[in-house]
Amino acid sequence: MTSKAIATFNPDLPVHMTFEKHDWHLLAEYWYPIALARDITEQPYGTMLLDMPLVIYKMGNELVVAKDACPHRGVPLSLGKNDGLGVVCRYHGLRFGEHGHCNRIPAHPDHKISPRFNLQTYAAVERYGLIWCSLTAPKEAEPNIPIMPNWENIEFQKLVCPTVDFQCFAGRQLEGFIDVAHFAWVHPETFGDPENTEVPDYKTIETATGFHADYWSSVGRYPIGLEQRGQEGFQWLRHFEIHLPFTATLTIHFPNDSKQVIMNAASPMTARSTRLFAPICRNYDKDLPIEDAYDFNLKIFEEDRLVSESQKPEYLPLDLSIEAHFPADRSSSMYRKLLRKKGFSPLFAA
Ligand code: FES
Ligand SMILES: [Fe+2]
Repeated sequence: MTSKAIATFNPDLPVHMTFEKHDWHLLAEYWYPIALARDITEQPYGTMLLDMPLVIYKMGNELVVAKDACPHRGVPLSLGKNDGLGVVCRYHGLRFGEHGHCNRIPAHPDHKISPRFNLQTYAAVERYGLIWCSLTAPKEAEPNIPIMPNWENIEFQKLVCPTVDFQCFAGRQLEGFIDVAHFAWVHPETFGDPENTEVPDYKTIETATGFHADYWSSVGRYPIGLEQRGQEGFQWLRHFEIHLPFTATLTIHFPNDSKQVIMNAASPMTARSTRLFAPICRNYDKDLPIEDAYDFNLKIFEEDRLVSESQKPEYLPLDLSIEAHFPADRSSSMYRKLLRKKGFSPLFAA
């Protein structure tokens, strides 16, 4: 390392950055899901958020989310094991317990342990069956986590889909979720109708955290083959709530006051890889096997994945002059405009 590189070394930044520094700092203030709560135990679990490798483990009731790098020689703690008193590093046995504090240095058992050996930890909470984290939000502040409609309603059954990894930018993935013109083209094998391609007009309304849109159409959401359960002529309402930068919830109003809410929370692991978290709740079909609901929704996400991963450029052009738009793109144009207003780069994230 040159002396200049040493002078600019910042332990709060990832070693390998795939984002523009400017975008990274803006993105790091937000909250993202980083794991399914059901996958987290006392044993270390490794993942990544915004290029930062993270380790997650439990100590009693405490949830610890820390940088996945031993402060001694940089070995990932996710390679180690929890012995009951903390996670033991594979290389020299340093152990990290509550609050990520180092509580043992086997080579010097009688020395006082310097706080330099403590892990760098992050604000984290569990919500909607997911572990959420922010890399720069203060730990004591109220977490700015998107609201999932009806999750607390006891009439609704809660499901948390297995995650899906997309090899694309989170902004491209999210935009696919709020796109209403692709159902006939991408989803004819799940719920779309190849004959039903026209997109009725709809509006977008800005909110404190993004915008919402109510989209009325005759495109159903029952799995094809169910003959729409005799609901010809029914007008389906899809209510989208977009929470910047990468989360949207979709409430689909089914016949007979039935509703399904899907949260699409795209977690940016790097600028080109995204882990999709999708909690779902519904007030119907509660007696059917939840595996069927997982399979159906995962099939839809898989159809979307093939398209999102193929898009070029890979970044999301916030400068609207770069791609062509038609009226049915109202939501994606609004999404791009609001991201730009937040200060993200015109070629987000090039
Ligand atoms: S690198 Fe972890 S104990 Fe040395
Ligand atoms: Fe889709």
